[in-house]
Amino acid sequence: MSKAVVEHLNLELATAFVQSFNAQRYHWMVSGPHFRDYHLRFGELYEAVHATIDELAERVRMLDGTPITSPSQMESLSVVKPSDTKKRLDATGMLKEALAGQDKIIALMHKGIEIADQAGDPGTSDLLTRFVQDHQKEAWFLREMLA
Ligand SMILES: [Fe+2]
Repeated sequence: MSKAVVEHLNLELATAFVQSFNAQRYHWMVSGPHFRDYHLRFGELYEAVHATIDELAERVRMLDGTPITSPSQMESLSVVKPSDTKKRLDATGMLKEALAGQDKIIALMHKGIEIADQAGDPGTSDLLTRFVQDHQKEAWFLREMLA
């Protein structure tokens, strides 16, 4: 197994956890005249990001690695920081923060595809290539709501 690939997958796993929790937070905390649209959109974002977690962790196991599972490790490794609970974001602020998180995940996945290709691991490369398209779709939806 490639240690670099496993380490990278754990970064992806940690980041997906934090971004999914952030999306949950927006889903719960959003308010305003278009509440239903935003509430549903952030719920869909949560579902899409959360759906990647199990496959990332199982890929780590296929490569004989250990997926991280502790919340403190998730927070310290994630490239997306938890949404600041002291800040009272409006719906636009949430969309911007969610989009910034998606952009970070997309950049991280591009890096991961390179790492997997260098390690001669087309299985991981394919998994991340599939996931990056889902994340790009989510980013597109968020961007259009900010236009
Ligand atoms: Fe809900």
